[in-house]
Amino acid sequence: MKRVDRSDSGSKKSFPDNWMERGSRVLVGNYSREPLSFEKGRGSYVFDPMGNAYLDFLGGIAIHVLGHCHPRITHAIQKQAQRLVHASNLYYSPPVVELAELIVEKTFADRVFFSNSGTEAVEAALKLSRKYGLSRGRYEVISMESSFHGRTLGAMTMTGQDKIREGFGPLPPGFRIAPFNDFEGVRKLATSETVAVIVEPIQGEIGVVPADRSFLERLRAWTREQDILLIFDEIQTGLGRTGSLFAYEQYGVVPDVLLSSKALGGGLPLGALLTTEKLGAYLPPGSHGSTFGGNPVACAAGTALIRALYDEDYIPERVRIMSAYLWDGLEGLSKRYSRSIASVRGMGFMIGIVVRSSAKKLKDRFRDRRVLVNATGVTDDVIRLLPPLSVSYDEVDAFLSVAEEVFQESEGNPM
Ligand SMILES: Cc1ncc(COP(=O)(O)O)c(C=O)c1O
Repeated sequence: MKRVDRSDSGSKKSFPDNWMERGSRVLVGNYSREPLSFEKGRGSYVFDPMGNAYLDFLGGIAIHVLGHCHPRITHAIQKQAQRLVHASNLYYSPPVVELAELIVEKTFADRVFFSNSGTEAVEAALKLSRKYGLSRGRYEVISMESSFHGRTLGAMTMTGQDKIREGFGPLPPGFRIAPFNDFEGVRKLATSETVAVIVEPIQGEIGVVPADRSFLERLRAWTREQDILLIFDEIQTGLGRTGSLFAYEQYGVVPDVLLSSKALGGGLPLGALLTTEKLGAYLPPGSHGSTFGGNPVACAAGTALIRALYDEDYIPERVRIMSAYLWDGLEGLSKRYSRSIASVRGMGFMIGIVVRSSAKKLKDRFRDRRVLVNATGVTDDVIRLLPPLSVSYDEVDAFLSVAEEVFQESEGNPM
């Protein structure tokens, strides 16, 4: 099997990598960064300043669905950067309109609002919900335990993880948190003031936990009946990762509002709120906005990405074939190393390996072998994989052979 030892001789440097030392002196320490820095990316690999190649099965946290520097995306960015970088939302800009048209063509939505990030798309959904609820005497939003919606005050308040909210009180009123995958639990929390329910079809940050189909179906039927908005946070699940443009298509459950970001801008900051004609009208002129939201360069990259997903048949065909190949390998590993691996869960190329020892320590062992994965889970028990949809058979083999070594070592030398 192929080992991961490609090096990028073109960018080899003789001086030591001191970005960590310099960065730790001047950057706010809110991130626990790995002792690594990267200067360049190509396809499924990123390269450190010494030219060492790392197989990237994290993709900048679900950003690079087509790998690093996909030629169509790079070209679109270059072309738009030479034409117009920013004009403001006081005017119409062709790349912004084109991306919105493409999203409308490919999804349930009739209307799109662009933001710069995921958390801002979530805030836009909150404001839309509050406006919708105004004449109905409703304002309360129900979110799910273990969810993640972002770091701004509203999104953070809805995030169902105490550790994210700790120390930032008093938190704004009007939010309730229900058990995930428990329809009766959600229903019991609802009051006459409930205006919206927000849910991730697959909870990503907590360790890749899919919603049950029946949970989403029941939520849909009940919210419709109660005139409550159903919001899907597809910031992590979107842009082909699960095998369709958005995961709602596979669940067969259409929300009222869908939030996208992460991969949407082809690596540039971009978020979006997708909704219907009727609901879009609840954000009239002056009610909401963002100076940079829907930047022309980011939108041009987004259009190139979505077109490539379809033109190059990533969705559904290539994701189905390649993710099945990876899943087969992972299932083999979980049988061989059942003392280390409890289960494998997720959908398509959004995968959680549930482990029986510290995921952080296992992640370090992957890193020592130049493979990037992420450690997550409520109890540090999930290795999260977000590989590019463009990953090759050789690269999957390379990943699996490193995983084999890591789990073999962990069984021989438990942590
Ligand atoms: C499901 C989900 N919602 C919202 C966010 C927040 O997005 P951002 O970090 O772009 O603000 C994230 C980020 O990880 C996410 O995974």
